[in-house]
Amino acid sequence: MEPTDALLPPADVARLRERAPVLAQLGSLAGEADADPAALAVLDELAVRLADTYPYHDWHYAGQMLKPPHPVAWAAYALAMLLNPNNHALDGGPATARMEREVVAQLARLLLGREQHLGHLTSSGTIANLEALFVAREERPGTRVLSGAAAHYTHARMCGVLGVEHTAVAQDAAGRMDLDALAVELRRGGVGTVVATVGTTSLGALDPLGAIADLCAEHDVRLHVDTAYGGFFTLLADGAAPGVEAAPFAAIARADSVVIDPHKHGLQPYGCGCVLFADPAVGRHYVHDSPYTYFTSDELHLGEISLECSRPGAAAAALWATLRRFPLDRAGLGATLAAARGAALDLGARVRAQGHVLVAEPQLDIVCPFPRLSSASAVSAACETAFDRLATQGIHAAKLRVETAWLRRSHPWLQDDAPTVTTLRHCLMKPEHALHTAELAGAIDAALA
Ligand SMILES: Cc1ncc(COP(=O)(O)O)c(C=O)c1O
Repeated sequence: MEPTDALLPPADVARLRERAPVLAQLGSLAGEADADPAALAVLDELAVRLADTYPYHDWHYAGQMLKPPHPVAWAAYALAMLLNPNNHALDGGPATARMEREVVAQLARLLLGREQHLGHLTSSGTIANLEALFVAREERPGTRVLSGAAAHYTHARMCGVLGVEHTAVAQDAAGRMDLDALAVELRRGGVGTVVATVGTTSLGALDPLGAIADLCAEHDVRLHVDTAYGGFFTLLADGAAPGVEAAPFAAIARADSVVIDPHKHGLQPYGCGCVLFADPAVGRHYVHDSPYTYFTSDELHLGEISLECSRPGAAAAALWATLRRFPLDRAGLGATLAAARGAALDLGARVRAQGHVLVAEPQLDIVCPFPRLSSASAVSAACETAFDRLATQGIHAAKLRVETAWLRRSHPWLQDDAPTVTTLRHCLMKPEHALHTAELAGAIDAALA
């Protein structure tokens, strides 16, 4: 099955076609708009074309980090969009700028455990990380940035954009930053910033952040923590079940900067990342003159502390409404994280009970299974076939490619007859996944047979 084949069930397409004319009449504050027949025809065509989309809203999609926003976020975004505020200068959206400050403060309390901070929403985790690395470059000019071999590719890439030297630090057998390798790089010198990841993209692995923070302090190096994916799992780092390893999450408070993506596990539509700085004084690196903005108030305008100019106030409104409905605690937003975590633990146990293997013990909600076959090439072939078989049943997985030499550190029986191994990868982000682990495990088992 190709991604260009129609993937949405006909009932979902029918629902999209029903919603289009309803939405068309709600898109203006000027009163109920008369349906423009030409626009309605285009929207119907759009609904039909959207059939060529994976069912991200359904448990059958258990692949990449994709899910629809919560209805409260969607409705709040749409409501604010009727005014289309811009969170650059304060007069672009006074109400939504205040909401942005409030939600950023909540995220700073959650991750950095402090009131004092500087931060703002961004269009993505990539841009949020770019901002953190920009500030790191300004704070430590002429130094190197280190990030783990399993860190998101954006760190090396954005260092290139910023003209900063970047070095990858080897990973341990569980996909975390290797502390010995980090210590070697720090002793080599010239390092200004270490990027640690709490929740890697491939496995959801948690770098040993406490020990990394100790090494950073010893070598007087900045610590940036990328929690774009993992940050909201802090809500489960309280010792209760289902939980996550508490120590790496507690150590986030020692970071100089942190990134979290509300558009991943914060129930938001795309276009909502966030960067936080522990020291508000780093705002000086953003100082710029703009003769045509910032004239309505002496209060700090969000554009004065952001590399982006125009940004959707609607994104702040959506996150604000979502966190009012689902506060940042275990009973609020934590409930969706707990369902995802529970699903991963359950699916991992079921897949193992079937005799298959996991690339690593799931630390968050990502499960990467493969069959217990003797060689790297046999595993890859079986997983490629399984991926296609699952898709023909309407179940959508993702794939992960890892180096065979690395995988053999935790699975030494695997024959090294190819440089890389492809496995299945499942991000179980939706609460619905927790209700369907038995079906998913059964389908994986049959597909790997
Ligand atoms: C750990 C991590 N950092 C950064 C990113 C990039 O975020 P975005 O896709 O929002 O640009 C991702 C995306 O998956 C991620 O998992």
